[in-house]
Amino acid sequence: MQWKPLLMVDIHSHILWGLDDGAESRDASLAMLRLAAETGTTDIVATPHANNEYTYDPDKIREKIKNLQVHCGAVPKIHPGCDFHLSFGNIENALQNPAPYTINARSYLMVELPEHVMPPNMGRAFEHMIAVGIIPVITHPERNRVLWTEERQFNAWLEHGCYAQVTAQSLEGHFGRKAKEIAWKLVQDGRAQFVASDGHDLVHRPPRLDRAFALVSQKHGDATAQRLFTDNPRHALEGSRITETPRPEKTKFRFPFFR
Ligand SMILES: [Fe+2]
Repeated sequence: MQWKPLLMVDIHSHILWGLDDGAESRDASLAMLRLAAETGTTDIVATPHANNEYTYDPDKIREKIKNLQVHCGAVPKIHPGCDFHLSFGNIENALQNPAPYTINARSYLMVELPEHVMPPNMGRAFEHMIAVGIIPVITHPERNRVLWTEERQFNAWLEHGCYAQVTAQSLEGHFGRKAKEIAWKLVQDGRAQFVASDGHDLVHRPPRLDRAFALVSQKHGDATAQRLFTDNPRHALEGSRITETPRPEKTKFRFPFFR
């Protein structure tokens, strides 16, 4: 049976040229947007990095989105966002004024965890964010080696209101066997609420969701795929609450699982 992708929304991409390690030119940005549209993505969130390496400039982001939208047409519709790294300065800024960082200036914030050391106060940062109405979305936990040994911590963050986004290519095996295994577990357990591309270029990390959508549909049914690729991401765009499916009791705090 042929599964048909349904109006997918990609909440994590590096399609804006010249701002980070994503698209290298305006033409590259446009080619990525074309690919996204051709493979069933109707809306895409541009999430440039905000970290020590790249300067985060909301005005530039708006300007580039406007420029690209004129040239790529109505589909995909491009929305502003941020690949937010948990530095002290970033957290302070976002707590005072979340809109420049959150998806579509609403409430969901894509949060990338450190790759080498997990600072002990991470949970506090999430608590503060949630207290001011920010919903942290932990990006690609399946690719974070530190998190592989911190499942209890990760589950606790989810219990307290964080969400998780799995990368489409992880489900396809692009990031290795372990990332693939964890990505599928998170989907199966209902611990991942979103699948996104984290697209950086046209070839190696393309902004396409159709292949992962088909895999999830085959394995867990069309309704699950629709929730992860369309419905939940649309809630993130609109800043509305997602409707979660209850997690099976036995998967809670099953420890260790990231092995
Ligand atoms: Fe990213």
